[in-house]
Amino acid sequence: MAPSVQLSNGMQMPLLGLGCWQADDGKDVAVAVEAALLAGYRHIDTAYFYANEADVGRGIKAAIATGKVSRSDIFVTTKLPPIGMRPERVEKYLRKSLKALDLDYIDLYLVHHPVGFEEVDENDNMPLENPGTDKEKVKFDFSTDLIGIWKKMESMVELGLAKTIGISNFNPRQMRKIMAIAKIPPTVNQVECHVYFQQKELREACKQHNIAVTAYGPLGSPGRKLFYEKQGKTIELPDLLRNPVVRLVSDKHKRSAAQVLLRFITQEGIIVIPKSTNESRIKQNGDIFSFELDEVDRQALRSLDQGVAGTIFKFAEIFPGYEEHPECFF
Ligand code: A2P
Repeated sequence: MAPSVQLSNGMQMPLLGLGCWQADDGKDVAVAVEAALLAGYRHIDTAYFYANEADVGRGIKAAIATGKVSRSDIFVTTKLPPIGMRPERVEKYLRKSLKALDLDYIDLYLVHHPVGFEEVDENDNMPLENPGTDKEKVKFDFSTDLIGIWKKMESMVELGLAKTIGISNFNPRQMRKIMAIAKIPPTVNQVECHVYFQQKELREACKQHNIAVTAYGPLGSPGRKLFYEKQGKTIELPDLLRNPVVRLVSDKHKRSAAQVLLRFITQEGIIVIPKSTNESRIKQNGDIFSFELDEVDRQALRSLDQGVAGTIFKFAEIFPGYEEHPECFF
């Protein structure tokens, strides 16, 4: 059985999932999802915002059709997009996700971001001012009401559309705001987390509120370089996979650097969702429970933490003006 963590509502959530952000990199997302499920993954993470839910759904269907896995074995996460960040839009966007995924329910529905964007039209994931110019900017919705949205998220559980609900990119203050009013508390907070940004403060706050942590970008998101190049931009990214400490631990265990990074996070009790559309890397990332890092390895990897300076996802750069939003999380 795939190792899992018990959520505060008693559900089991597999420690390893397939991340699907940027999975439409010219590869067939459905093929990757099916390959992951047949390789033993039992957790798939997508989002309305990734615009690939239909392909993810096809992959899940194809895996189920082999008879090797059933719907109830699979933990599927999707997320309320920033353009859905108004109480009256929550159910509409969850139903749209379920339709695209061709599922009756979602295991985990997350508020993708504490910051709302304007909903220009329902297909517009990224409502932009001055698109295509150097003044291009996301249109923020400055009226985001996290409490009103959370109350609607709770009704998604009551309607049976989501088994459990959670948050993503929320800081400790925003978590406390939700916990203070929640009838159904968030079970998960999904945040950037990897050896260079180990999220110590946030993990401590999550522990106090019995909220599990899911790490996105656990390999340092090396694919983002290509993502930016396609937009004519170049970015410098730290290379976690070539870090000398990571390489030493990887040589010691005769495992790849990626396996060491993923094993480290899961041994900290954090759920991890590496993205890959490459079948051999999907398998490699899935094979992390057959070895253990010892305390020396773990201390060495813990020492790589740079705190906030180690952040790779710089939202203020991705979305200029982000820090002006009252719910900016950093
Ligand atoms: P690919 O899809 O071609 O495998 P993150 O989950 O941190 O965002 O990282 C995802 C990126 O890391 C993707 O570009 C993915 O490329 C790459 N990747 C995934 N698994 C591995 C691996 N085992 N070794 C090296 N790169 C990997």
